[in-house]
Amino acid sequence: MAAQIKEFTPEELKQISDGLERKTAQEVIAWAIDHFHPHIALASSFGVEDVALIDIVSRLTPPIRVFTLDTGRLPEETYDVMERIRNRYGIAIETYFPDREAVERLEREHGYYSFRQSVEARKYCCGIRKVEPLGRALAGMRAWVTGLRRDQAVTRGDTRAVEWDEGNGLVKVNPLVEWSERQAWDYVRANDVPYNVLHDKGYPSIGCAPCTRAIQPGEDIRAGRWWWENPEQKECGLHHR
Ligand code: ADX
Ligand code: SF4
Repeated sequence: MAAQIKEFTPEELKQISDGLERKTAQEVIAWAIDHFHPHIALASSFGVEDVALIDIVSRLTPPIRVFTLDTGRLPEETYDVMERIRNRYGIAIETYFPDREAVERLEREHGYYSFRQSVEARKYCCGIRKVEPLGRALAGMRAWVTGLRRDQAVTRGDTRAVEWDEGNGLVKVNPLVEWSERQAWDYVRANDVPYNVLHDKGYPSIGCAPCTRAIQPGEDIRAGRWWWENPEQKECGLHHR
């Protein structure tokens, strides 16, 4: 778990966020680096928002840590874009794996598709494969940067550019909070940023392979994530609201 350093009051963070939401993503990240470097890290799942963020960060000095939570169940296409990003930007992507014994126990006791059984069973798997490794990735950090956008999901409508992340005990910076999906794509295309080829195959939002599928035209962008659950439940615990 990250150190519990609360250097802004909730009211101060709200005011800072109000100001930053009128600024560009680049300015939000620059503010965050200015305040928190070197205790700041970018969490990347290598979706379209996250590769745009990596490109933005790569143009700023000083560089910041980029980490990814490799759940062990990611699609092949995600490893492929990770490798292309690694080569393109010459960055060391910090991989965090789940605890080996916890995964061994999970699979031995509950099988390989336990997440289909109930929301609780799904959150149990996400807890082992994503949330616990996130805690390790954030240890010692004072802020983390994510690719959250407000219009991604019903669960994300009140996301701020900068907010206190109570669950992890540090500041969370969401520079793309106001971006539309279109803006993310415009940025990626304009800058020729490598992206996950699953996006071209009907996957606007990409997570673990067994929990993500393509959507039909007109469906919600997160309809392919945990498609057997209600939209209000579709969070894995990385982003407490
Ligand atoms: S999720 O909680 O439903 O999986 P989503 O895929 O929308 O999240 O991603 C939102 C943000 O969470 C990403 O922009 C990224 O910052 C972070 N994130 C999600 N999955 C990962 C991952 N596997 N590794 C690192 N960061 C991640
Ligand atoms: Fe497990 Fe699915 Fe969550 Fe991945 S998304 S950690 S496979 S429940």
